[in-house]
Amino acid sequence: MEVVPLASADEVAALGADVVEAAVRAGGAVLGLATGSTPLPTYRELIRRYDAGLGPSYDGVRCFTLDEYVGLPAGHPESYRATIARELTDPLGIPADRVQGPSPELAGLPTAGARYEEALVAAGGVDVQILGIGSDGHLAFNEPGSSLASLTRLKTLTEETRRDNARFFGSIDEVPRHVLTQGLGTILRARHLLLLATGAAKAAALAAAVEGPVSASCPASVLQLHPHVTVLCDGPAETGLTRRDHYREVYDAKPAWQGL
Ligand code: F6R
Repeated sequence: MEVVPLASADEVAALGADVVEAAVRAGGAVLGLATGSTPLPTYRELIRRYDAGLGPSYDGVRCFTLDEYVGLPAGHPESYRATIARELTDPLGIPADRVQGPSPELAGLPTAGARYEEALVAAGGVDVQILGIGSDGHLAFNEPGSSLASLTRLKTLTEETRRDNARFFGSIDEVPRHVLTQGLGTILRARHLLLLATGAAKAAALAAAVEGPVSASCPASVLQLHPHVTVLCDGPAETGLTRRDHYREVYDAKPAWQGL
């Protein structure tokens, strides 16, 4: 795992955009997309570069979202399908049929997870998976206690996560209780995991994920089992990391040829 402590959320966004663009330039990329607030500056940076003619072509790129709420009316603006189209894929000109998420239709719920796993395998797997971290250490919507080997399935959100996400809905009562989420085992299959963490509210969870024991009690600690993880964090998010000076030394001394 490579932890890159950066000065600001803007630097996290710029480096995050570099990683995504490098995968897209390599050709035929399959991108794994997170929603929530954390990746938005990275998405805006990708769009800014694309609009300025500085970004790569997104022709041929395929996208898979991490998770989806269950129980929202089709097309609800806070569904992750609508959110990712609005915040990233539409502005980059990626057509809707190249963007997939777990299907929350009630009739198909019992098989939705298995069907999503099949779609991910059929696409050849995810090249770069963008991730955020919950204040309780959740990864995608794998709440504490989730199996480290889990695959896409229906889950119930904790009260803490519903409270955190109420800002998108107006009140906690409007935040769905159920979600479909890639499992921790699903996430581990992606070839490169890119965790973005910004703000003091993420400091404790980030420290537990990166430096604590690997445990279902902190789902994001499963990242320690993956061979290629990059963590981009800003000053407030890094404060709980006991080895942060070393991470900075490593990054400052990084050979130019090595990349992230
Ligand atoms: C979103 C997701 C979640 C968020 C996490 C952090 O697709 O899977 O795990 O990454 O809840 O959310 P923010 O970034 O809003 O703090």
